[in-house]
Amino acid sequence: MRKIVVAIDGYSACGKSSTAKQVASALGYKYIDSGAMYRATTLYFLEHYINLDNPKDVAKALANLHIDFHYNERNGKNETYLNGLNVEEEIRTMRVSEKVSEVSTIKEVRHAMVAQQQKMGKSKGVVMDGRDIGTVVFPQADLKVFMTADMDVRAGRRQEELLAAGTLVDLDEIKQNLAHRDHLDSTRKESPLIKADDAIEIDTSFLSFEDQVAQVVGLAKKIINK
Ligand code: CDP
Repeated sequence: MRKIVVAIDGYSACGKSSTAKQVASALGYKYIDSGAMYRATTLYFLEHYINLDNPKDVAKALANLHIDFHYNERNGKNETYLNGLNVEEEIRTMRVSEKVSEVSTIKEVRHAMVAQQQKMGKSKGVVMDGRDIGTVVFPQADLKVFMTADMDVRAGRRQEELLAAGTLVDLDEIKQNLAHRDHLDSTRKESPLIKADDAIEIDTSFLSFEDQVAQVVGLAKKIINK
């Protein structure tokens, strides 16, 4: 059967990752969380006090960091590893969220991540979510989805996720972080967050999780069975 690439882009916390994960599982595809790679890079930069304005420091850091994903049989999650260490929880903290969009504006960081993402999706049969997947990483993707959602809904969902991970974060702080990241992500020079011309927009504000997954799976199956 024909294997395709599904690219899911959109604003912070509008349900891309959870949808992409479920779509991948429904199609029997690999799921790749490109945001986790930018988050792991940010964690490395924080831990090693990398000066973001010093290209030599940045290049050295990029040469020394290795990111990969390993399946955890206990929870059924594909978890993020940085230089052999499981950083899945650490990369979702506010400390990383506060810095990640700044790190993601750096051209050298983007080039390194994009090259690795393209390698991961080379044999197709992949669902990848992020900001530039349909525009830069896989401009030839068979299906491109652009997700949006109301800010209040997004902030509420993110607060629940953080709470499930054990931290209560003020709703206003979350809203500020999401708005700040949306702004940096959409206005940066290198591969900004924009809807690809051929992407299908899905507003998830009033959709149940099952419905949003079903919509994307339906679109994908139409293409696969064409
Ligand atoms: O889950 P959430 O929506 O908070 O964000 P994420 O997908 O984990 O991505 C975190 C950050 O990484 C984004 O705000 C972007 O700054 C950056 N990112 C990017 O620049 N390009 C991507 N393909 C994915 C993420």
